[in-house]
Amino acid sequence: MRLEEHLSGCEPDLAKLILKIADSCKTIKSGFMSRQSCSDTENVYGERQMALDKWADEVLIADLKASGLVKYLASEEQPEILEFDSAGNFGVTMDPLDGSSLIGVNLAVGTIIGIYRGNVLAPGNTMVGAMYVLYGPLTTLTYTVKKGVHEFVLDASGDFVLQKENIRIPDGKIFAPGALRKEYLPGHLKWIEALEADGYKIRFSGSFVADVHQILHKGGVFTYPGYQGNENGKLRLLFEANPMGFIIIQAGGAASHGMGDILEVIPVKVSQRIPIYIGGIKEIDLIEKFTMEG
Ligand code: F6P
Ligand code: MN
Repeated sequence: MRLEEHLSGCEPDLAKLILKIADSCKTIKSGFMSRQSCSDTENVYGERQMALDKWADEVLIADLKASGLVKYLASEEQPEILEFDSAGNFGVTMDPLDGSSLIGVNLAVGTIIGIYRGNVLAPGNTMVGAMYVLYGPLTTLTYTVKKGVHEFVLDASGDFVLQKENIRIPDGKIFAPGALRKEYLPGHLKWIEALEADGYKIRFSGSFVADVHQILHKGGVFTYPGYQGNENGKLRLLFEANPMGFIIIQAGGAASHGMGDILEVIPVKVSQRIPIYIGGIKEIDLIEKFTMEG
């Protein structure tokens, strides 16, 4: 089944928006080949060579602006929320190319999207949908509109076709821990030691979207915690934590900042960072217990 058909029961404008973003992501995917030497410099002719993440940002901004569906657009690559004069009223958050530092070594990177009605400076639990596209050996699209989590793969004719419906996060002993161990906070260190003692294996690529994708399919937990000197961690609430957390929760998992649900946090600024624990319920319950104990 193609993505268009799968979305046929969904609210028409929301379906149109998801399809529009899917098309933009096909363009981004094609850019990996044609723009593989792009960097943030000028070439010998004085032409600007744009880094792929900035180019992906421009592709999505132009497409979403032209769609007439989006009023507010927050991008990890932009300092402010963009406001379009549009008939539609969706708010979209986007990380155009998460994990982009891995492009140079040919590891999987992805586009992460959150969808709101109206403004995006709102708790994650007000999202109406979320999705990500992962550019790996295959290009996959995973979405939810609060009716299960579904995954599609881009086929040779350029269609996203259904690969897995109603994905549920399984039990699994994988952990993807960001930050430096010597800077862990006490509750976090205790938790990591508990996972290690329980036989959890490390799987951390440096691409958040790819690492969470693996957790969705194999179980376990991703974390980029708060650490000494950066108690709010590294990753961003609007662009990374909320959409991926929303998807994992829809798949039967949990998303916490160590002391409660990430999706309940009321953002105060676009670039807000937050400690992240995303994965299975039992791993998240355990970190919340250790964090509370201090
Ligand atoms: O977008 C930020 C990001 O690249 C994530 O994709 C990834 O999880 C993280 O940073 C990696 O950070 P570090 O280089 O500190 O391990
Ligand atoms: Mn990112």
